[in-house]
Amino acid sequence: MPVISAPYAFNEGDLFVDLLSICGHPLYLKCEAFNFAGSIKLKAANEMVEAAERDGVLTADSVLVESSSGNLGVALSMIAASKGYRFLCVTDSRCNLSTRLLMEALGSDVHIVADQDSNGGFLGTRIEYVRALCAADDRYVWLSQYTNEGNWLAHYRTTAPEIVRQFPDVDVVFIGAGTTGTLMGCARYFRQWHRPVRVVAVDALGSVSFGGEPGRRMIPGVGMSMRPPLLDESCVDEVMWVEETDTIRMCHRLARRGFLFGGSTGTVVSAAADWLARNGRPGMTAVAVAPDLGERYLDTIYQTNWLQDLYGDQVLESLDTARMSALSPEAESAARAPDRRRTP
Ligand SMILES: Cc1ncc(COP(=O)(O)O)c(C=O)c1O
Repeated sequence: MPVISAPYAFNEGDLFVDLLSICGHPLYLKCEAFNFAGSIKLKAANEMVEAAERDGVLTADSVLVESSSGNLGVALSMIAASKGYRFLCVTDSRCNLSTRLLMEALGSDVHIVADQDSNGGFLGTRIEYVRALCAADDRYVWLSQYTNEGNWLAHYRTTAPEIVRQFPDVDVVFIGAGTTGTLMGCARYFRQWHRPVRVVAVDALGSVSFGGEPGRRMIPGVGMSMRPPLLDESCVDEVMWVEETDTIRMCHRLARRGFLFGGSTGTVVSAAADWLARNGRPGMTAVAVAPDLGERYLDTIYQTNWLQDLYGDQVLESLDTARMSALSPEAESAARAPDRRRTP
């Protein structure tokens, strides 16, 4: 039984969910949310903060600042609170309310930018704001997750070894691409593994990371509105793009089996299920990475009005169809009564 005295000292690395019954093929989902920051970003945050401390960049009167769509912000808030640093998270209006409240509860300041950049995202605006702060006051220390080598090294040192420890015969891995820290760390590790592992990067439709056309994206985690500086495409075998409606449907399918995951997990599992339906063969070992859980998305992905306003009634209809097919005839007629969960 682990006994810890700092919140960043615990991280469950060995938990996998077998999604055979949902995907129709064995798919082992590596769950990265079981730590006090609630997401995979604890790994990158730990690595980057420790490197900055070692290099003498981070000192007692430093103010950490970072641009984050949420999860890195929570992880840094937790580490900063524990180590006694001040932290300012620069995020945007797509950051979930609960994520912002979490950062504030941990004692961090949160700045929300409102202006979109030329690709229709907020990343450019967020980075401009951080740069201006650092230029004006040298107490600010920007770890820059988009360029920091510690971001991918964390996954080279932990995530990929945790996968092969459980599945030494892994054939294919599915990894969502945000900053591409997780993707690059795992891809570089698997390139050196003694047997071939196919690395499938999963991106959101509307993201420009792999040269796609920019478009509206409302679900944080996967996708970027600029090319990720850490990305080296030569380490990646394949890229799949997922529409947000498919992400949402997969999140709800998983939730109806009792697994409440975050948006990027829905994206990755949707791509993996699709890929395995086309390429899966008996005995193939497939692993996907689940970066966080669903509580942070209760007011978005799991909220009927939010879905209806952004994606129309259609996305809800197909969700209802999926729900009905899992119900007995009696339960189905009861369920067809007006949906009282919808708030005005
Ligand atoms: C929920 C979620 N999924 C996926 C990712 C992508 O991870 P990475 O930045 O390592 O590409 C992030 C990163 O913030 C995230 O918060």
